[in-house]
Amino acid sequence: MADSSQIVSVPLAERGYDVLVGTRNLGEAGDFLCQRADVSHAVVITDQNVEEPHAVCVVESLAEADLQVDLLVVDAGETSKSIDMVDGLWQQLLELGVDRKAVVVAVGGGVIGDLAGFVASTYGRGISLMQVPTTLLAQVDSSVGGKVGINLPGAKNMVGAFWQPVGVLIDTAVLDTLPQREYRSGLAEVVKYGVILDAEFFEYLEANIAGLNDRDAKVLRHVVTRCCEMKAEVVGQDERDQTGQRAVLNYGHTFCHAIETVCGYGKYLHGEAVAIGMICASRLAERLGRIDAALTARQRDLLTSLQLPVEVPEVDHDALLEAMTRDKKVEHGRLFFVLPSRLGHVELVGDASLDDARAALENK
Ligand code: NAD
Ligand code: GLY
Repeated sequence: MADSSQIVSVPLAERGYDVLVGTRNLGEAGDFLCQRADVSHAVVITDQNVEEPHAVCVVESLAEADLQVDLLVVDAGETSKSIDMVDGLWQQLLELGVDRKAVVVAVGGGVIGDLAGFVASTYGRGISLMQVPTTLLAQVDSSVGGKVGINLPGAKNMVGAFWQPVGVLIDTAVLDTLPQREYRSGLAEVVKYGVILDAEFFEYLEANIAGLNDRDAKVLRHVVTRCCEMKAEVVGQDERDQTGQRAVLNYGHTFCHAIETVCGYGKYLHGEAVAIGMICASRLAERLGRIDAALTARQRDLLTSLQLPVEVPEVDHDALLEAMTRDKKVEHGRLFFVLPSRLGHVELVGDASLDDARAALENK
């Protein structure tokens, strides 16, 4: 393990695992895996944007660790999270003679992590999974915590499982090849962690805007490690998203999902919609007397410095409100929002009305 690498443990007893965060450590994938799983065959699943050089580097490392290695490459993009793609991958695993001594290694962003993870959770009633996330969003969020799944037409992430990996290997240097817009989108999730769980971390982000914008290796290692620590702690408390503790990760997401639905998937990247959603949620918290305007302004300033959007798009607000009432976070007709009560602390709030939500959209 390189001197600068750090290990974060996900505290889930027999399902617990390590997240290794380093820079230029993809070549450690083979040793990292063999120290944590008794496997002899690895099937690396990636997409065509990540295959060269990152997935190939992982394949070489796994082969050097004396594993039989196969590489499966799927189309990049959200449409690959489909049952047709899963079916195709199941068939390929069968043809490759994959058995219980095999591990699926997901090398890619959240799409590949969710898709390959779902395949691992179902093939042969479940085989081992290792995550090697290559987008910032996947490094700070989706690769940790075991949520895997695919979309149904018109229903995102509707079919899936909780399937924890045997380990997560993160190389922040792979972010060098990530398109700028994808990178910035991941930064929104990073800011989210500061607002919901760690005021000091939020201050660190405010103090390191240049390092964040320049993808400075030291800043990125600290940021990714701290986000993984927070995610690990939340997942350790509420693995299956049942007690409300894991729901804090959905800060900004009720507004975000409505914006994604009404504007059409593709107009905004997820993190961009999260950035706008966080500002709406913060304004809602202001309206309910939970925080003052200064906290919303701080979030807006930080997100803007990271070149993320913060303005609600010019669409019909009734359509946004209707989409919100159809969101998964509606229970017994009540809208639930994750709202800050101070920097670094949020609560699940069930007493906001649709009028309050409308005012937050309209910035009244
Ligand atoms: P993505 O996986 O589609 O990746 C974005 C784009 O970047 C793709 O074109 C991909 O090919 C490319 N790419 C990835 N790594 C690259 C690299 N290092 N260099 C160059 N290009 C690279 O998108 P994403 O934002 O990572 O993930 C979004 C998905 O994650 C959604 O499907 C969402 O539902 C899911 N998600 C899951 C969880 C969870 O807990 N399981 C949490 C959040 C989001
Ligand atoms: N990304 C939200 C969760 O993992 O619960």
